Amino acid sequence: MLIGDININKIAALAPMAGVTDRAFREICALFGAAYFTSEMISTKGIIYGSQKTFSLSERSNFEYPFALQLFGNNPKDFKEAIKILGDRIPEIIDINMGCPAMKIVKENSGSALMKTPELCGEIVYAAKSVSPVPVTVKIRSGWSESMINAPMVAKICEQAGASAITVHGRTKQQGYSGICNQEIIKSVKEAVNIPVIGNGDITSARNCADMMHFTKCDMVAIGRGAMGNPWIFSEINLVSAGERFIPPSINERVDIMKLHTEKLCEYKGENRGITEARKHLSCYVKDIKNASDIRRKIFSSKSKSELLEIIQSISQNV
Ligand SMILES: Cc1cc2nc3c(=O)[nH]c(=O)nc-3n(C[C@H](O)[C@H](O)[C@H](O)COP(=O)(O)O)c2cc1C
Repeated sequence: MLIGDININKIAALAPMAGVTDRAFREICALFGAAYFTSEMISTKGIIYGSQKTFSLSERSNFEYPFALQLFGNNPKDFKEAIKILGDRIPEIIDINMGCPAMKIVKENSGSALMKTPELCGEIVYAAKSVSPVPVTVKIRSGWSESMINAPMVAKICEQAGASAITVHGRTKQQGYSGICNQEIIKSVKEAVNIPVIGNGDITSARNCADMMHFTKCDMVAIGRGAMGNPWIFSEINLVSAGERFIPPSINERVDIMKLHTEKLCEYKGENRGITEARKHLSCYVKDIKNASDIRRKIFSSKSKSELLEIIQSISQNV
């Protein structure tokens, strides 16, 4: 699949998740063959005001290719300015967030609120595209609410304004992350545009990835929550789609990845923040493991990286 002139030769990308898909997690997913990577969402205003925290979200490593930097905002001029300021930091793709349902984002008319004004979506893509040296993509939802499902129209407008691909999460803003992902709407977007469409929502296995691709005819999928605690989902999809057999990781392989993930978080964010953030990931990794609640309790009461690593190591002996 081509996004602009960027060739992507696998079918499952890691979907952006603020507070989750940081550099450490993206590197872990790269080990297992995620097709491409997107930064956590980054505020155009934050870039314009020179916020160091905002810039740190744009850091990527050599393991992540292709890498998209995701911007959110509500004003075409801000997108233009932010992209100009980013300059050399711009990776292979710029993605525009038109799907975030969080109150603090939509009350500023950013994220999914943009879908209420389709012309503005087009103006933002056009403005971004006019200064971006790389392809511009868009991530949308099915619409704002059940009575305002307009993803095909928004997708078409974004395509006409110069977008090179569209990711569609088949839920409305009103649904948040609950209810059923509407694959019909992803299918309708695919029928409406001539650029690649990336289907998104509730993929947790090679089986339901194949089902979504078959039903919607989307060109690729993006996986968010299904990769948390299960970065192996990318190898599962890559192997199964190539007609090969996927063997789930052994407990020792799981333990090794949990340790590596924790080490990376501590290296990139410092020990205190690293172990705090590692806890939420580890609690996903142990989901299907025997004695999970006991292990979780220990994980959440650990006070240092070394203690946490010991707890993780003990999983392979106790299970
Ligand atoms: C904790 C969390 C944070 C998210 N942050 C972002 C974000 O920064 N940008 C974005 O476009 N989508 C974000 N999303 C939405 C996901 O990319 C994805 O569209 C959604 O979770 C549905 O896919 P899934 O069922 O595979 O998780 C987030 C989702 C979650 C659960």
